[in-house]
Amino acid sequence: MKIALLGYGKMGKIIEKIALDRQHEIVLKIDYTNLDDLTVENLQKADVAIEFSTPDTVLGNIAKCFEAKTPIIVGTTGWYGQLELIKSSCEASNNALLYASNFSVGVNIFFHINKVLARLMNNYPYYEVQVEEIHHTQKLDAPSGTAITIAEGIIDNLDNKSEWINVVEQNDGPDLLKSNQLLIESLRIDSVPGTHTVIYDSEVDTIEFKHTAHNRTGFALGAVIAAEWLPGKKGFFTASDMFNFEV
Ligand SMILES: NC(=O)c1ccc[n+]([C@@H]2O[C@H](COP(=O)([O-])OP(=O)(O)OC[C@H]3O[C@@H](n4cnc5c(N)ncnc54)[C@H](O)[C@@H]3O)[C@@H](O)[C@H]2O)c1
Repeated sequence: MKIALLGYGKMGKIIEKIALDRQHEIVLKIDYTNLDDLTVENLQKADVAIEFSTPDTVLGNIAKCFEAKTPIIVGTTGWYGQLELIKSSCEASNNALLYASNFSVGVNIFFHINKVLARLMNNYPYYEVQVEEIHHTQKLDAPSGTAITIAEGIIDNLDNKSEWINVVEQNDGPDLLKSNQLLIESLRIDSVPGTHTVIYDSEVDTIEFKHTAHNRTGFALGAVIAAEWLPGKKGFFTASDMFNFEV
């Protein structure tokens, strides 16, 4: 398969290695040094594009792929507010896009169990839930896209939560947390690739459900598997379409 890499940073470089190991060809590599090469003509040389750039550049790159009719895998996070708009535009223009806030198999298993756990916890309303995420200090967005997916999974399944709010680097939580609000606490520590914990706390005990990424290889492999899965399909997809877990 011919792959275009949009974003050639920490993730783009690992994705390249895995793609080559799986006998794919990289026909285009874009980073901030060669943006003029990101043309419709060059994108049309690829069977699929894999986008891991920045929150500021992802939407422009998606638009370019839609123009070229090149299926696109999006791993960049930090554009959650535009998700519905991009979904509509993808469907209206008959394009193919798969977005995952996290491509690792382990995290997608975590997403699934998180929903099941939230449903179970409806029976035990004296537990207060919160989400904690830790990432490296270069991360541009907070909360992480993964933490947002976890929070949405809880909100969709736990009756007493209807919205999330985020605090960065705060030990005591916000002063005024309403009972319907789910707190996402974001911590930034040196080179941590990504740790997410769902905490249910009561007066008598604490239940912690935690995923720790040891490196970025799991994210990159999942993105390449998604790139093998998407071509030939039309529409807007997420990782749960690819992994197909049942709740
Ligand atoms: N979904 C997942 O599984 C997952 C996993 C890890 C990281 N991420 C996300 O992926 C994104 C990239 O992460 P990273 O660690 O590789 O970041 P990084 O800072 O190492 O790399 C970003 C790259 O984007 C390039 N870039 C800048 N402008 C560009 C443009 N207009 N078009 C294309 N490329 C451009 C930069 O030159 C750089 O090479 C972040 O949003 C991060 O949160 C997602």
